[in-house]
Amino acid sequence: MKILVIHGPNLQWLGTRNPEIYGTTDLASINRGLKALSAEHGVILDIHQSDHEGEITQLIGSARKRYAGILINPAAYTHTSVAIRDAIEASDLPAVEVHLSNIYAREPFRHQSLIAPVCRGQISGFGPGSYFLGLEALLMALAASSKPAKHRSSERKVIKRRRS
Ligand code: DQA
Repeated sequence: MKILVIHGPNLQWLGTRNPEIYGTTDLASINRGLKALSAEHGVILDIHQSDHEGEITQLIGSARKRYAGILINPAAYTHTSVAIRDAIEASDLPAVEVHLSNIYAREPFRHQSLIAPVCRGQISGFGPGSYFLGLEALLMALAASSKPAKHRSSERKVIKRRRS
């Protein structure tokens, strides 16, 4: 199983970029951590960093059928990119959005994500840990969706029983 990992603009500067916000871990270390975690799960990662909206959109566009899911930190494009949002939606792949910083505790323009509504979920505020939690969450979502329908319907019954 292959997962597409995308780091958006300016994340190549992690380590020295606003360390009071993003910490001092660089992108290569985050990628090493992701690779180690994916190896534990027997999953292959294709990792890309790009400053270009069109390149990110194309990567996502060609991901369908090649990857099981997408882990993405869209960085500044989180707050502006309808193109990336539409590409994720069109890919029909489960995606998890991650942020090192807690975008909701920062400037108001960062409080809106155009990407989150087309993702399975978002993890924000745990530094490099957001990526690792994001990968775990994506793998969990993929495992749940690959369970045979029989099991899923019995899970639904359990939930219903708990509710009543
Ligand atoms: C970020 C948050 C964005 O608002 C910002 O533009 C980034 C990084 C984060 O990981 O905290 O570049 O995505």
